[in-house]
Amino acid sequence: MSEGNLIDVSAASALLEVGPDPWRDYLEVRGLRVEFDGFVAVRDVDLTVLNGDLRFLIGPNGAGKTTIIDAITGLVRASGSAKFGGEELLGRSVHSIARSGVGRTFQTASVIDELSVLANLDIAGGAKRPRRLLWRARGADVPEAVAEALEVIGLARLRDQPAGSLAHGQKQWLEIGMLLVQNAKLLLLDEPVAGMSQPEREQTAVLLRTLAPHHTMIVVEHDMEFLRAVADSVTVLSAGQVLAEGRVAEIQANQKVQEIYLGTPTSEGGR
Ligand SMILES: Nc1ncnc2c1ncn2[C@@H]1O[C@H](COP(=O)(O)OP(=O)(O)OP(=O)(O)O)[C@@H](O)[C@H]1O
Ligand SMILES: [Mg+2]
Repeated sequence: MSEGNLIDVSAASALLEVGPDPWRDYLEVRGLRVEFDGFVAVRDVDLTVLNGDLRFLIGPNGAGKTTIIDAITGLVRASGSAKFGGEELLGRSVHSIARSGVGRTFQTASVIDELSVLANLDIAGGAKRPRRLLWRARGADVPEAVAEALEVIGLARLRDQPAGSLAHGQKQWLEIGMLLVQNAKLLLLDEPVAGMSQPEREQTAVLLRTLAPHHTMIVVEHDMEFLRAVADSVTVLSAGQVLAEGRVAEIQANQKVQEIYLGTPTSEGGR
């Protein structure tokens, strides 16, 4: 991590070498359904995502991508089933689901601008001593999980900076770091590269590929170039239902998908 704000794959991989159990840590969604006042936003959605298979979830605006993440994380009521590591998530509180190793980011970053990078990570780690961490001297020891996250997200050198002073991309990385500190094993990332510059996208691609072998991941993203660079597999959603699923090449070749989403230059990278 010599440059402080660049992601070093080998260093990050070494830090993350203790991986999860590939057979236990997988997501199994069956018959997921979400209704808003009689409007069915998500219906009959089945989704199986194995550890290490970096899944992209794509589909036009309003297809229900964010709603699926909201359902899995307990933010909206849903019927059907969503199991992670064999544990049912539906019907539980947001906090209880988070404690089962499920972490998500939002379409807009939700870091606390006034606090340092380090304090944001500390709080994410459930530090029950805000006073102490706010007053902690610079250079004092940081918990191992926080130090590891700082390395992985490439913000070690910026740890004492207020989060509000970070570049847009760095804020998104900080949010991902907050999930790592929480020891989240299922990462649900909602449009992580929206608004990022090209170099930031490339760094994020490296970061996500680094995390993939050790996590179960769903990335919602509209950017097709980013998808081609990062995804292992793709689920295409349309009007709340799964339209197609497969490896990246299969999905690109799928005519139904091309018609609704991938086909013309105007839909490329757009919505
Ligand atoms: N709280 C809500 N109340 C009513 N309708 C909602 C609510 N949240 C989402 N919807 C509707 O559900 C549908 C799916 O929305 P969702 O935000 O999941 O789409 P999306 O695929 O994430 O779209 P985008 O690409 O624009 O982020 C849309 O028709 C949306 O208007
Ligand atoms: Mg959305």
